[in-house]
Amino acid sequence: MRLLVTGAEGQVGQALLALPVAGAAKGLGRAELDITDRGAIERAIADFAPTVVINAAAYTAVDAAESDEAGAFAVNAAGAGLLAAAAAEAGAGFVHISTDYVFDGRLSRPYVESDATGPLNAYGRSKRAGELAVLDAHPRASVVRTSWVYAATGRNFVRTMVALARTRERVQVVTDQRGAPTYAGDLAVALLGLAQASARDEDPRVLHLAGSGAASWFEVAAAIFETLRARGLKAPVLEGVSAAAWPSPVQRPQNSMLDCRLASETYGLALPDWRDALRRCLQEILDDKKPMPGLL
Ligand SMILES: NC(=O)c1ccc[n+]([C@@H]2O[C@H](COP(=O)([O-])OP(=O)(O)OC[C@H]3O[C@@H](n4cnc5c(N)ncnc54)[C@H](OP(=O)(O)O)[C@@H]3O)[C@@H](O)[C@H]2O)c1
Repeated sequence: MRLLVTGAEGQVGQALLALPVAGAAKGLGRAELDITDRGAIERAIADFAPTVVINAAAYTAVDAAESDEAGAFAVNAAGAGLLAAAAAEAGAGFVHISTDYVFDGRLSRPYVESDATGPLNAYGRSKRAGELAVLDAHPRASVVRTSWVYAATGRNFVRTMVALARTRERVQVVTDQRGAPTYAGDLAVALLGLAQASARDEDPRVLHLAGSGAASWFEVAAAIFETLRARGLKAPVLEGVSAAAWPSPVQRPQNSMLDCRLASETYGLALPDWRDALRRCLQEILDDKKPMPGLL
């Protein structure tokens, strides 16, 4: 396999490039390949001649997208479509990452791939448009929806909680949004598995892949603080708050749970339990003493 990864400096891009690949892998960050630039895409594909492209590049600033919907669409819809078309033209496979935010979160069970979409915000609309653009441009593309991604690097909820624990006495976290935290390292393993599986015509084009189990943000924060305390570190008092009471310009789905059985039944791909994954990521953060980000 010759694997080309876009968005190589993001959480999932970095996790993919940290894995051993049978063959060759190349990662291109935004500075080397802007996926809105058709000419740059064509040059990158001609230079490396990938057999598979994984698109980990995206406009992921959910709040900023609300006032910059065109910017989000340029990357998440048009850019993703350009990349998929170029991969198809070159005869390369294509794996694209999408999100639980394509759903409105009003169902009371985990979402299956065939459920109606209905994004609540601009980011979600741009990602749904990207799914359609990719599926239209590449006949064998796989679109993988995931949720609540975090890693030991980057801007994410887990690192924010670890940073807040150092400075705050009390932290408020939302209790009434449920989903599955997904460790970028585990997602990357599954994405690579999917990239290696030669897609047959009858295989599903859209798959859900998220950490196993479900939690509220409050429960995730509680698990983080419990681990910090078990290591003798300071942790704040955790207070629950409803999403409605949380100041945000953006509506988010209440139910972000994705039913991941199709990926397991079709490819044998399933991600570990979210608590186990969280422990591994926290160990990486705390043992490596990764520099903490500014607060989200
Ligand atoms: N994070 C989550 O909670 C979450 C949840 C569900 C699904 N997803 C999806 O998972 C995928 C990976 O997300 P992630 O968490 O790894 O996000 P991330 O850490 O924000 O990484 C995305 C990367 O894409 C880059 N990028 C932005 N615009 C680009 C462009 N025009 N051309 C090339 N690269 C560009 C970003 O660079 P800059 O930093 O320079 O902008 C960043 O390095 C995305 O498709 C995202 O929508 C994420």
